[in-house]
Amino acid sequence: MSETVPFSIHALELGPMENFVYLIEDTASGRAAVVDPAWEVPRVLDLAGQHGVRITDILLTHSHHDHINGIEEVLQAQDAQLHLLKEEAQFWGSYLDIPTLHHGGDRIALGDTEIEVLHTPGHTPGSACYRLADQLITGDTLFVFGCGRCDLRGGDPEQMFSTLKDLEHNLPDSTVILPGHNYAEKSTSTLKEQREGNPFMHFDDQGRFLHYRMFYHDKHRDSPYGPVCKGHEMPAD
Ligand SMILES: [Fe+2]
Repeated sequence: MSETVPFSIHALELGPMENFVYLIEDTASGRAAVVDPAWEVPRVLDLAGQHGVRITDILLTHSHHDHINGIEEVLQAQDAQLHLLKEEAQFWGSYLDIPTLHHGGDRIALGDTEIEVLHTPGHTPGSACYRLADQLITGDTLFVFGCGRCDLRGGDPEQMFSTLKDLEHNLPDSTVILPGHNYAEKSTSTLKEQREGNPFMHFDDQGRFLHYRMFYHDKHRDSPYGPVCKGHEMPAD
């Protein structure tokens, strides 16, 4: 039996890096939040228009260019509040003066829709996932059968290991993940499927995870990513 929720989430795949930009629509109020506006803002605005909603909020999963390069264009079209984690604003050095810097565990009200902010460091120090009922917008933290790089400035594979463990232990199997890039054979998945087939969720040892993320993975696997059987992620090293 599916639970009735007060929102719907629409996805657009935009730009040269296969980014997913999500529009969260709160049904009753006609308010909408755009997650990680980038690349082709007119298409985001058109989508909002098609659904008859107005963008009142912008949510950022993190501050990398491919997730934020449309912020100013959205703000020129609509007065919207920008939300991100305080840790990410500090890392980025931008938007430190806005009133909607969050901490992990905060809840954002978009009309009747409650959005929980999860602090999920590893790809960047202030990366966030946004949870709405059984949907989890994961940015560059968790991809379908993959996870975000940890070798860029601010990346930390030890934090990523803990973050993935936290997601695995704190969220139900039925959680639907909505990633920040279309790097897999399909655009979305459940946490159950990721537990079983995402190689980054197979490690119990932090050191082996670190080696896999930082040295092994990119030499041995290419997108579009598919499932990997547990135990086959790093054979005979
Ligand atoms: Fe990123």
